[in-house]
Amino acid sequence: MEAVIKDIAEMQRTAERLRNQGRRIGVVPTMGCLHQGHLKLLEVARKHADVVITSIFVNPTQFGPTEDFTRYPRDLGRDTQLASAAGTDYVFAPETESMYPPGYHTYIEVERLTEMLEGKSRPGHFRGVTTVVGKIFSITKPAVAVFGQKDAQQVAVVRQMIRDMNFDIELVVCPIVREPDGLAMSSRNVYLSKEQRSQAPVLYMSIARAEDLIRSGERSCEKVIDRMKTLIATNSSGVVDYISIADSTTLEELNECRGSLLISLAVRFGTTRLIDNATITI
Ligand code: PAJ
Repeated sequence: MEAVIKDIAEMQRTAERLRNQGRRIGVVPTMGCLHQGHLKLLEVARKHADVVITSIFVNPTQFGPTEDFTRYPRDLGRDTQLASAAGTDYVFAPETESMYPPGYHTYIEVERLTEMLEGKSRPGHFRGVTTVVGKIFSITKPAVAVFGQKDAQQVAVVRQMIRDMNFDIELVVCPIVREPDGLAMSSRNVYLSKEQRSQAPVLYMSIARAEDLIRSGERSCEKVIDRMKTLIATNSSGVVDYISIADSTTLEELNECRGSLLISLAVRFGTTRLIDNATITI
């Protein structure tokens, strides 16, 4: 690996130099606590770019006042090692105070797509995401940016932002990386107690059940969602935040399972909120 860069101006100078050398920069924005899901993104970035920048920044503006910003796991030493071993050339790890200095007053807000699902449960979340991702784009000057399908709505929102703000960046999306028992990998899985961890695959199980039902001819979204709710209630202590079957492009909730569908859900285990999703086409 070349370097860990904390200074924004230095990152910008480095990116500028790389671009002038004709190199194609790929960026992978993360909040650290890297796991196999993040490492897959880095691997994909390597295929699409000749130099990979991994940003590691726990972004305060995307956390709600009662969310886990302060307790979010942070370990830059470990993350740097993992990122380096997975083919990162530069880690960009700015300080909160340099990303949001006193007098900071500018936000990027995507409308519509941010009003449903995660946006409804976490007001202001996507405003923080698009703002920080926009900042990371203008600091690292990438030709390509890699995001995970784990956060399906985030992908849709970032795609909309790239289009609307004319960012000259190719968006590459990486499939969800799962544990052997189906649980989608997430930095938040470390919060789970042993018992909660053993129940957490119900998110994936309920999606698999929904897919089976739909493929075998069920067309009522309400019925599918009811079956998912029952499965979760029967097999876990998880509390459903939402379950949605939506159009995968507009994210509008559907009555009838038809077209390209995004099945997504959020479930709480104690104070830990897990999400998962799948897209299927009928
Ligand atoms: P974070 O949760 O660290 O995720 C960073 C990237 O890794 C995201 O694109 C996310 O979708 C992807 N990812 C996480 N778990 C994954 C899994 N199991 N399989 C595939 N991809 C996975 O998402 C964020 O950070 C932030 O919102 C960020 C975009 C960095 C802005 O602050």
